[in-house]
Amino acid sequence: MVEISTSILNVKKEDANKIIYGLEVAHTDYFHIDVMDGKFVPKDTSKLMNEYTNMVKQISNIPIDVHLMVKDVKKYVDEYLGFSPNIITFHYEAVKDKEEVRNIINYIKEAGVKVGLSVKPNTKIEEIYDFLPFIHMCLVMTVEPGLGGQKLIPETLEKVKTLKEYITKNDIDIDIEVDGGIKEENIELAKNAGANIFVVGTAIVESDNMENTIDNLKN
Ligand code: DX5
Ligand code: ZN
Repeated sequence: MVEISTSILNVKKEDANKIIYGLEVAHTDYFHIDVMDGKFVPKDTSKLMNEYTNMVKQISNIPIDVHLMVKDVKKYVDEYLGFSPNIITFHYEAVKDKEEVRNIINYIKEAGVKVGLSVKPNTKIEEIYDFLPFIHMCLVMTVEPGLGGQKLIPETLEKVKTLKEYITKNDIDIDIEVDGGIKEENIELAKNAGANIFVVGTAIVESDNMENTIDNLKN
């Protein structure tokens, strides 16, 4: 099944209420919240994303998909657990130490929230194989994290394919999410590679008709 997680990273403050409500009407499957700390990536969206997540909670019951692009993972996990999200995803590269990765996975799960692990374009997918049985989702970045509106890096879809083959062969039941530069013209490629959740930002929020765009992306 194709699910769309709409990133509201590039939404302007003055449009936020309208867009968030519009996304509910347009049946996005998730709200994707891109939390950046100015350390793991240059941009700092932490204040804005906290505000936007509050708005989402006021307006909608649609599940929240948190993508932490931060160095101090625990600090932001604690902050976002307060929103009762559906899932919190953090970056493998932000932690590196395997034991700490395992600790954070357990920490989020003990709070009753699903866990995702994300890899940047230059990280080998094999590096996170050990964690797959213990997480709910693997987020394969299809652009360098940090900015909306970039172009999908085609080689990243090879990683999605490798991952999909590996989880199928080993009977591991996890979602594969792709994030960055996904639009109507390339979603089929990402789907054929094995992804089932698609983060889409600018291609939805900057379109004239968000409902049509989401429908087209799903079909
Ligand atoms: C990039 C973020 C993405 C991104 C999605 O660091 O994780 O969620 O902004 O936006 P588009 O679809 O515009 O690439
Ligand atoms: Zn994201």
